[in-house]
Amino acid sequence: MKEIAVGLLGCGTVGTGVARILLEKQALITSRTGLKLKLKHIADIDTARGRGLNLPPGVMTADAGAVVDDPEIAIVVELIGGLSIAKEFMLRAIDNGKHIVTANKALLSTHGNRIFPRAAAKGVDIAYEASVGGCMPIIRTIRESLVADRIDSIRGILNGTCNYILSKMTEERCPFETALKEAQQKGFAEADPSLDIDGLDTAHKLAILNTIAFGMAINLNDIYVEGIRSITPLDIEFAEAFGYRIKLLAISKRTDGGVEARIHPTMIPADNLLSSVSGSLNAVTVSGDCVGDLLLHGHGAGMMPTASAVVSDIVDLARNIAGGLNGRVPAFSYRDEAVQPLPVLSMDNLRACYYFRFTATDRPGVLSKIAGILGAHNISIQSVHQQGSGTGGQVPLVMLSHQAVEADVKNALAEIAGLDIVTDQPVLIRIEDAGAR
Ligand code: HSE
Repeated sequence: MKEIAVGLLGCGTVGTGVARILLEKQALITSRTGLKLKLKHIADIDTARGRGLNLPPGVMTADAGAVVDDPEIAIVVELIGGLSIAKEFMLRAIDNGKHIVTANKALLSTHGNRIFPRAAAKGVDIAYEASVGGCMPIIRTIRESLVADRIDSIRGILNGTCNYILSKMTEERCPFETALKEAQQKGFAEADPSLDIDGLDTAHKLAILNTIAFGMAINLNDIYVEGIRSITPLDIEFAEAFGYRIKLLAISKRTDGGVEARIHPTMIPADNLLSSVSGSLNAVTVSGDCVGDLLLHGHGAGMMPTASAVVSDIVDLARNIAGGLNGRVPAFSYRDEAVQPLPVLSMDNLRACYYFRFTATDRPGVLSKIAGILGAHNISIQSVHQQGSGTGGQVPLVMLSHQAVEADVKNALAEIAGLDIVTDQPVLIRIEDAGAR
């Protein structure tokens, strides 16, 4: 039986899961592949910590260089995370002719345009299923299953921490800070949770999906990113009253002029399948011209779900090695000569429906003043909600718009924010609702 040696860089949560699968599920993997995957080395700075693994002697090492330079190792699994050290060892492994498996979305979305061509030049593959959506096979689905589809759009809940926080706020009407603290206590959010809650982790993932879906170079910096810090229980309550849920959505759409790519809190109809994705779960819908809408749903993080995706990549590469293949599926899913310089469109041109919440003085003429400014900027109101106290105090004035242009919305809100009848900064949440026009 052909044996293929694997080296693992980084043995944190996911690395431990990968090692466990390779050690404990060898018989199942062999029964499906006819291959033996040998976990030859694991490199981690902490070699002493017990991980509940029954490792043969000599497998654990503190020397990552020894793993990427080992001539017997054919596949290097990079689970160090972060940018600089991970990149250094990944490039060294590529230069040594190793195939790579990684879950490192930050690295691929930041440096992928240089890493992938370097791997192609060396005739090695990079597999990265676990970089987006944990266990959900979204990369393989787009690159392989939908090879005959023109992908038109992607909508995803791609960050479990944000989804946990928003679900908690929805269920318990608690403030953002309380939900965040609980996410941290449960181990979903990092001690510094900004990468998750400010949307950048989601942007890393969307940049990768855009590339493979639309055949464009990786373009992280042009994606519009807005996180969930400003969401309040009051907005969640109003969303429910209007028949919506608030989710942090990653949205990309193919248009004639380029690709719309944005991440922001979004109101979606309560009966949309994505609305029912709660807690730390992830889900993504892909629309293709042949398949229509397709939904994947599952654990976007966590030891064994993510390890499952990593091992699926190891097996994929091992099968290619056994078959004498490389580059079977282009890294970007499109062949190099077909990758297009598709621009990411400016948010100013976005056409969407909007939820606005103004904190305004409760007195005659206020509603018509605000509606007048919106109208002057071509923004048509679909519905209005105001629970006045009748005492002339500050009250929330909520409006939903018909489809409007984002640049007009920005200008109108800036004008409204300057009125002396409006106290707080106006709140804007975009609505993703195919039916609302
Ligand atoms: N921190 C991410 C999340 C998982 O909360 O979904 C890794 O991308």
